[in-house]
Amino acid sequence: MEYRFSSRMGRVPESFLKELFRVSSVPGVISFAGGLPGSAYIDVEGIREAAREVFAEEGRTALQYTTTDGYLPLREFIADRYRRRLGLPATPEEIQIVNGSQQCLDLVAKIFLDPGDAVGMERPGYLGAIEAFSLYEPDFYSVPLEEDGPDLVAFASLIRDRAPKFFYGIPNSQNPSGRTYSEGKRRAVAEILEGTDTIFYEDDAFGELFFDGKPRLPVKHHLPEQTVISGSFSKIVAPGMRIGWIYAPAPVLREFNVAKQAADLHSNFLCQVILHRYLATHDLDAHVARVSAVYGEHCRLMCELLDDLMPPGTTHTNPEGGMFMTAALPGGVSSMEVFSEGVREGVAVLPGVPFYVGGGGEDTIRLNFSAAGEEEIVEGMHRLARVVRRLA
Ligand SMILES: Cc1ncc(COP(=O)(O)O)c(C=O)c1O
Repeated sequence: MEYRFSSRMGRVPESFLKELFRVSSVPGVISFAGGLPGSAYIDVEGIREAAREVFAEEGRTALQYTTTDGYLPLREFIADRYRRRLGLPATPEEIQIVNGSQQCLDLVAKIFLDPGDAVGMERPGYLGAIEAFSLYEPDFYSVPLEEDGPDLVAFASLIRDRAPKFFYGIPNSQNPSGRTYSEGKRRAVAEILEGTDTIFYEDDAFGELFFDGKPRLPVKHHLPEQTVISGSFSKIVAPGMRIGWIYAPAPVLREFNVAKQAADLHSNFLCQVILHRYLATHDLDAHVARVSAVYGEHCRLMCELLDDLMPPGTTHTNPEGGMFMTAALPGGVSSMEVFSEGVREGVAVLPGVPFYVGGGGEDTIRLNFSAAGEEEIVEGMHRLARVVRRLA
């Protein structure tokens, strides 16, 4: 028979992820291509203990249905953390739990976008967002992401000329570039948006992972009623729990709640209760500080090896936090060739191409520095340098 899939399925760019997973599981390949937090820093013992307590004391409740907005004590924990870390006046009523912050990308697009609506994002931009938004058939407009945030001239003209429903940005340690907006650019972005009907969608997947341990003030601080923030426990506790959140103004949350209920009723309640128990009985700040310090070491090592081993003309970003950086290859070297040759040499990187809506990124690669250990980073970068030298 002919499967008559909806036309929107044809709008999703062909996913590179299948190939990536295949490659990453080839024995002996050192992968800088994926986006996994370091497995060694998932507190399996602590989470096991929290789960044991939940089953013993409140198993019957935790295994029931719950409300769509999520477990209130967990939302209180998140709101309290915003107040304490960032001085944002968050309340639990402004927060809803989602199935990983990836679900926010789908549901925010679902409640705002009709086919042909304009969406703004950074260039390069997060691949998972491009995929999620594409299903709602918008027209993408991207703004170059400079070292300290979006190109403000391009940003201002996009907002003025196209009036996108929302602009999606990652001000803290962006995926794929690792770049962080300066304080000045955060304020400028808010000023440009103020008085327009464009929402700022602030994806804060990495805001806890600054190597210097200092939080950066979100754009939401400057533009509270026009900003939707998404956050996640994936990078700081465990991605397999699939627990993230949205922090948004009441009118947005009302629509979001309707869409979330229709999609899945609520996120995994058992995991929400276990996670809350874990957070209530463990020191998240200390855990995050430890993980950020390790990622900082990995990042520094990777930068040094890029500088020392790669042929002249190679450049790279200098992340202040997060899990990713981008390297630009010397003239004429194709990232797709580096990908396929790299696999033969035993190292996997992610070509930049899927991070660019409307083309670009052929000479860039994304490198992840959270998953591999130091020895693997050293060996993997030597392998990568051999490949790039051969192709240059
Ligand atoms: C920028 C960004 N946003 C969102 C996500 C989704 O993460 P999760 O659904 O695990 O919260 C990721 C995953 O890597 C990401 O890099």
